[in-house]
Amino acid sequence: MITIAIAKGRMQDDALALLARAGVRLDDDARNSRRLALTDDSGRYQFIFVKPADVPVYVEHGIADCGVVGRDVLLESQADLLLPLDLGIARCRMVVAAADAEIMTRSLGMLRVATKYSHIAAAHFGSRGIPVEIIQLSGSVELAPALGLADLIVDLVETGRTLRENGLTVVEEIAESTGRLVLNRASYQLKSDSITELVKGLEAVVNAQVNAAGGGDE
Ligand code: PRP
Repeated sequence: MITIAIAKGRMQDDALALLARAGVRLDDDARNSRRLALTDDSGRYQFIFVKPADVPVYVEHGIADCGVVGRDVLLESQADLLLPLDLGIARCRMVVAAADAEIMTRSLGMLRVATKYSHIAAAHFGSRGIPVEIIQLSGSVELAPALGLADLIVDLVETGRTLRENGLTVVEEIAESTGRLVLNRASYQLKSDSITELVKGLEAVVNAQVNAAGGGDE
């Protein structure tokens, strides 16, 4: 049996749709249930549904053989995983945003940055030699500037609506993110045939989608 950790939330439906097209299907009852561990129609695959940040943890520790999670989470986690495939789902950007678009050039003091992604934020500002104080939050980061907790945020932008509706504007882009298939290193050795079959199946589905859309942009 292959265990697949799926990031709950924004990419869950797209991830399950891709897997179904690759032949790994959950029936409707299973999909609609609130159970967090489910077996597919063939009995060859188990799905576990976990918070995005926990996908690399389950996969790195070998509890899950593979996982589907955003590049944003992988950059933040720095887990030691194999990354065989960009699934092209849940496309978004990791950005620096602020209420005052000029704040980085205007401010002389230490800027406060609120984020769920403290490693990414520290690496980004560190590489540019900009001293910042990182304020770790768990969500609703866009509130921080308006309430005076931070000058800047580092967060994900998909449609841009959350930034707009909270009076924030993109100051810099840090990285693009899409959903990725990740593998546990030992599983890849020990269950090589089954995992290769899964990777190739997903790769064919992703390539067919890219071709149908008229080519990739990466
Ligand atoms: C993400 C992100 C932004 C929002 C961006 O939040 O942190 O808040 O989505 O999407 P938009 O550009 O389409 O408006 P998420 O839904 O993952 O929840 P959380 O950060 O509050 O936990």
